[in-house]
Amino acid sequence: MINVINNGTVIEQEAISFIQLYYEETGRSQEEMDHRIAEILASVRETGTYSHTIEELAFGARVAWRNNSRCIGRLFWESLEVIDERAASTEEAIADALLRHIAYATNEGRIRPTLTVFAPETAAGQRIRIWNHQLIRYAGYRTSEGIIGDPASVAFTEAIMRLGWSGQGTKYDILPLVIQINDDEPRLFPVPDSYIKEVELVHPDIGNFADLNLRWYAVPILSDMQLEIGGIRYTAAPFNGWYMGTEIGARNLADVERYNELPAIADKLGLDRSSNTNLWKDRALLELNAAVIHSFKSNGVSIVDHHTAAEQFMTFMKREEAQDRAVNARWSWLIPPMSPAATPIWNQSQLVEQEIRPDYKPQQVPY
Ligand code: ARG
Repeated sequence: MINVINNGTVIEQEAISFIQLYYEETGRSQEEMDHRIAEILASVRETGTYSHTIEELAFGARVAWRNNSRCIGRLFWESLEVIDERAASTEEAIADALLRHIAYATNEGRIRPTLTVFAPETAAGQRIRIWNHQLIRYAGYRTSEGIIGDPASVAFTEAIMRLGWSGQGTKYDILPLVIQINDDEPRLFPVPDSYIKEVELVHPDIGNFADLNLRWYAVPILSDMQLEIGGIRYTAAPFNGWYMGTEIGARNLADVERYNELPAIADKLGLDRSSNTNLWKDRALLELNAAVIHSFKSNGVSIVDHHTAAEQFMTFMKREEAQDRAVNARWSWLIPPMSPAATPIWNQSQLVEQEIRPDYKPQQVPY
């Protein structure tokens, strides 16, 4: 019998090509590999699925990072720490594991790239979903005076308010964890303050910058993507790295569709906003980004500037080429949103993107 998973791929074929990759790259013997493939095929025949060893899982999660076309930070793919929480079967147990992930990854600011993997989708289609886009993120509220908080969180915030949640209504309310098993009612778990590291933004030489009361959280932990390894779909597999400064300073706090702070920053800097030609937006952006990097660093929180990240990406490319592996890349995502032409990635627009697995992919929003 051939087992087809939802998107039409054949689990056996996916499993075999993943196991071949794993054995090739980790230098194990042909014999062992043949034995493992036979074991997996027997399991799929009997149960419709199979289970990864923790080593296969860790390898798959790391290679999925290496394969991610949109990530500039992939030089460190081998250092990803993988925590196996496949045994967590209740919302409470999952929430506890998520808090452990936050604490472990945050590590008082010395951020550890970490992935926690929960039970995969079953052959019968049962699955765990974390509704949050990131484990730590700010709420967004639509009000008569416009949006308060993060506009990117409005739909999620409204969905959980319908489930009974209510926030303080500030610009920086931390959202609760929202966990759903199968079609059950999702359960909400607040994240205790002690788990949340945030950085208040100060500028290295502009004293009154701090009056803007800008802040951001320390660790971006993506929690809505699906990790697919060898035909098995991990629908709950949150992972994190550390921030590149521009994600916060040139997007989250700067985009007109997000916190839109450039006008307030320009006013603080005493810039004339009536004209484009004085480059007030660029000046505001520059000082905001300097403040982000400076503040994270002086609080002992890991962060990388976009020039260093771009150099690291070039090193990653060289290493991959030395291994005869093609680098999967979406150029428009790899160039940083600030001064892209001042980084060496600018000249790499020939890079191409392909479907390769293992990978992380977006999933349908469950609300
Ligand atoms: N861009 C997203 C954010 O600003 C985070 C994406 C992942 N970033 C990372 N450095 N691993 O929150």
